[in-house]
Amino acid sequence: MDLSWEHFCQNHFDFPSLGLALDTSRVGWKRPEDAPAAGALAQAFADMQALEAGAISNPDEQRQVGHYWLRDATLAPHPELRAAIEASHDQIRQFVQEVHSGRLQGANGKPFTHLLLIGIGGSALGPQFVAHALGTLQDAMTVHFFDNTDPDGMDRVLNALNGQLAQTLVLVISKSGGTKETRNGMLEAQHAFLKAGLEFERHAVAITGAGSALSETAVSEGWLERFPMWDWVGGRTSETAVVGLLPAALQGLDWEGLLQGAREMDQVTRLPELSQNPAALLALAWHTLTQGNAEKAMVVLPYKDRLELFSRYLQQLVMESLGKETDLQGATVHQGLTVYGNKGSTDQHAYIQQLREGPNDFFAVFLEVLKDREGVTIDVEPGVTSGDYLHGFFQGTRTALAENGRASLTLTLEQVDAFRVGALIALFERAVGLYAFLVGINAYHQPGVEAGKVAAGAVIDLQGKSLSWFQQNSGRA
Ligand code: PA5
Repeated sequence: MDLSWEHFCQNHFDFPSLGLALDTSRVGWKRPEDAPAAGALAQAFADMQALEAGAISNPDEQRQVGHYWLRDATLAPHPELRAAIEASHDQIRQFVQEVHSGRLQGANGKPFTHLLLIGIGGSALGPQFVAHALGTLQDAMTVHFFDNTDPDGMDRVLNALNGQLAQTLVLVISKSGGTKETRNGMLEAQHAFLKAGLEFERHAVAITGAGSALSETAVSEGWLERFPMWDWVGGRTSETAVVGLLPAALQGLDWEGLLQGAREMDQVTRLPELSQNPAALLALAWHTLTQGNAEKAMVVLPYKDRLELFSRYLQQLVMESLGKETDLQGATVHQGLTVYGNKGSTDQHAYIQQLREGPNDFFAVFLEVLKDREGVTIDVEPGVTSGDYLHGFFQGTRTALAENGRASLTLTLEQVDAFRVGALIALFERAVGLYAFLVGINAYHQPGVEAGKVAAGAVIDLQGKSLSWFQQNSGRA
């Protein structure tokens, strides 16, 4: 691997307006323009342009793909869509103002200080990542999550909220409104409120598609508010829809800054010039490193605790989008890009041993953050801080991997703030979209998820039949 200064300079791309830089010098190419798929990018850009203009880019579900309109509603292909997006932002502003001012209160007249978010997959991973990345002790509300149907997991959350349910607002998020894990979480929360002598409907808010089962429950039970989720926004690309914005706003985070970061990243990642477009560089690097054929996994290593849920968030965005059996022509391709990771330097003491010396079946994406903390810092050794060590471990691991022929990309962020988090989300959404066009698959459906849901339904159905047989045949051996 060429580790020379000259090679680095040819492969270091700075995006000052975004406070971000991308280093592709350890991908293994001389220059990005030499990548085998570079010539195919023009068509991927054209496909992306059609997608943003409102084409049915999710053919299996006959749906438009509109997450880019969410951060710039003027791009929506119909005035009604633009009006719906803008109205959702107004609804967020008004509702959050009511909650934070204390005008809207729980059943026994106490202001809301806790938020319990119930959702799964695309209806939880983005909000979890953002809450963790941007949360502080000064937040307007403390956020808790039910993101599974594990009774013990929910008990742990409820125990943490013990005695505070009267001040807890519950946000139930489900695009389809029929996801069983989320429905169960809602019923468990409802039961807990009932047990505490509180009317659940005076604490409950829904984000869901029009006419869904969840929407009907919210209407019939008289919940506080309902927010929209549209069929042209996929679950895993819904962080800049109400799904991500409302919890962030309730927590007191700068949700409009997050939208702005995503919007500005979108502007940059529409540019056809490779050196000016970090999403195209990422997509091309993934294609080069995996031979466009799922050959290597992507290990995401942020050297910043606040970003530790990023790999979990990306796991869904990337693997649910790119993990597909067939291509757009129906040919069997078994595409995908495996994602795992946690954070540096913690992972140095876990699996980095294998990354350096085991099978060369991965590439790393390092995330480096220049600002190491708020306020003053101490020396842990003369002239050396903890942050210097974090930086040292990042550089050291990257070099140790490169010395053994292990490829990596590095994203450098000035700091972790709402703008940068929005930009990161939009960067990977666009890279996934471009990569999917490069390899000719539909990134916006998830037939594999549906298959699991149907199979689980059959198990519950069988349990019901078995129980009923035992009841009818009581006493028989
Ligand atoms: O990205 C997706 O579409 C899925 O992972 C969904 O987000 C997940 O299945 C939850 O679905 P819903 O929001 O309909 O409850």
